[in-house]
Amino acid sequence: MTETMTTQGETPRLRIDDDTWVLVLTGAGVSAESGIRTFRDAGGLWEDYPVEQVASPGGFAADPALVWRFYSARRAKAKTCAPNPGHRALAAIEDRLGDRFLLATQNVDGLHGQAGNRRVVEIHGSLFLTRCSGCTRPPFPDDREYPDGPPKCDECAARGRTSLLRPHIVWFGEMLDPEDLLRIGSFLDQARRHRLVFLAVGTSGVVYPAAGMVLEARAAGAETWLVNAEPADNARHFHHFVEGPSGRVLPALFGEALGAVTR
Ligand code: OAD
Repeated sequence: MTETMTTQGETPRLRIDDDTWVLVLTGAGVSAESGIRTFRDAGGLWEDYPVEQVASPGGFAADPALVWRFYSARRAKAKTCAPNPGHRALAAIEDRLGDRFLLATQNVDGLHGQAGNRRVVEIHGSLFLTRCSGCTRPPFPDDREYPDGPPKCDECAARGRTSLLRPHIVWFGEMLDPEDLLRIGSFLDQARRHRLVFLAVGTSGVVYPAAGMVLEARAAGAETWLVNAEPADNARHFHHFVEGPSGRVLPALFGEALGAVTR
C-alpha cells in the first residue's frame, strides 16, 4: 500500500548514502519530454498502429514490410531526439553509485546510453539493433531505415537460403532474454544485503514481467518509489508515489544526493 503520495508542491528527496543500492526501471514516459511518443497515453503509438500488427511475430509473418515501415519511422524519429533532464539525472546517479546502480529500461530509443548511463539492461531490445529471423547470427548495430520493403539476411543468402532481417525488439508473445533477467536478479541478490531503493519511472505498469519487478524488489527488502505522470496500474505496490513529469521530478528527487545534477 502506498504510504506517501505527492501530487503537487515540493518534491520529496530520496536519501542516498554510502550503503544505498539503486535499481531503476524506466518506461516510455521518461522519453516523452524528449519528443518520443508513449504507447498508451492519449495520442500514444498504439492508437495509430494496432499492436498485434507491428509488435508480434504473427504481425511480422503477415506483413513484414508494414513492420519495417513502423520501425523505420521510429528509428528516424529517435535519431532526432536528445536526452532530457530526467535521463541526465539518472546518468548522474550512476556516476555517483557506480556498481551499486542498475537501470532496466523498457525503452528501445537508446537515450539512456546517450545521456551517459552504462549499466543499462534494455529488456525490450533496441531500435538500433537488427537480427535475422531465420538464423542465429548475433544482433548487429543498424540505424538504416527500410521504408521500401523488408531487408534480407546476407549470411543466409550466402548459404543459399532466404530469411528476412527483423528489428531486435521483444514483441508481444516473445520471451525476455534470460541473461537480462539474470543480470537484474543477481543485482537484487547483492543489493538485498544493503539499503536497496527501487525506482520506477514513466511506465504504465501493465506490461509484465517489468510491471512485476516492484514485487521482486520488495521481496529483496527495497524501499520502492514510483515517479509517473499519473497513477500507474501497479501504483499500490509502491511505498512512495510522486506524480509529475520525470524531467522535472527526477532532478529534484535526487537533488540532495547529487548537489546540482545538471551537466
Ligand atoms: P506506456 O505508454 O504504456 O506508459 C507510459 C507512462 O508514462 C504512462 O503511465 C504515462 O502517464 C507516463 N508518462 C507520460 N509522460 C510522462 C512524463 N513526462 N513523466 C513521467 N511519466 C510520464 O509505456 P510503457 O509503460 O513504457 O513494449 O510501456 C511498456 C511497454 O509496452 C513498452 O516497452 C512497449 C509497449 O507495448 C514493446 O514494444 C515490447
